[in-house]
Amino acid sequence: MSEPGVVVIIPAAGSGSRFGSELPKQFHTLGDRAILQRVIERFLYDERVERVIVPVHERGLLNIGEQPSGKRVQFVKGGETRQESVTKGFEAAEMKKGIIAIHDAVRPFFSIETFHKVIDAAIRYGAAFPAAPMVDTIHIVDNDQIVDTPDRTKLVAAQTPQCFRADVLRDVLSRGAGGDASDEAGLAARLGYVVKAVPGDKLNFKITRPEDLVMAERILAEFGK
Ligand code: CTP
Ligand code: MG
Repeated sequence: MSEPGVVVIIPAAGSGSRFGSELPKQFHTLGDRAILQRVIERFLYDERVERVIVPVHERGLLNIGEQPSGKRVQFVKGGETRQESVTKGFEAAEMKKGIIAIHDAVRPFFSIETFHKVIDAAIRYGAAFPAAPMVDTIHIVDNDQIVDTPDRTKLVAAQTPQCFRADVLRDVLSRGAGGDASDEAGLAARLGYVVKAVPGDKLNFKITRPEDLVMAERILAEFGK
């Protein structure tokens, strides 16, 4: 059975305000090359990926080397919000059917095995995402006081790559236009779509603050990923 290749959008137009350095975090080096470059390459070498679209403000010092045959990386102008960057990437994709994946530029340790499970769930259900179980108890606080404690067994942390059938994502992005959703899975669910949660894993964390990059370097040294 040959299925059409997956198109991957990697929104990489953020400024990294929580990371707090002039150079946006996605262009920082992890091991021997930029975080964003690692992420792009990991997708390019996956046989289920057809092409990669990267919304950015500036291309930075990326050195995308020799690419596996027939695969393309396309850089497009990013937006003011993550959702806008994703929308611009999706417009550039010009997709009518097939599966589209959206992945944060700053999650270098996503698992290909999980990615494939998310693709398969999106083919079946229309939308899917990797969900990491919560280990901490989560409280809702107001004025520094606990006002509620949701049932931890029902809470998950939303990771990427999130996958969608092209028709679903088109509808979600057009009906949600102008918003600033931090992920498309939540937006799709709010608009009434079934969004399947696939088990994610802890290694797929998002580099958000400087200490996350320190942790990523340690993981790389340990596992050589
Ligand atoms: N992103 C984007 N366009 C924006 C804002 C964010 O493409 N206008 C991307 C980021 O580059 C990142 C992903 O969305 O790959 C996840 O966002 P986040 O981790 O929040 O990154 P930043 O927005 O850059 O960081 P911060 O929120 O700390 O400013
Ligand atoms: Mg952000």
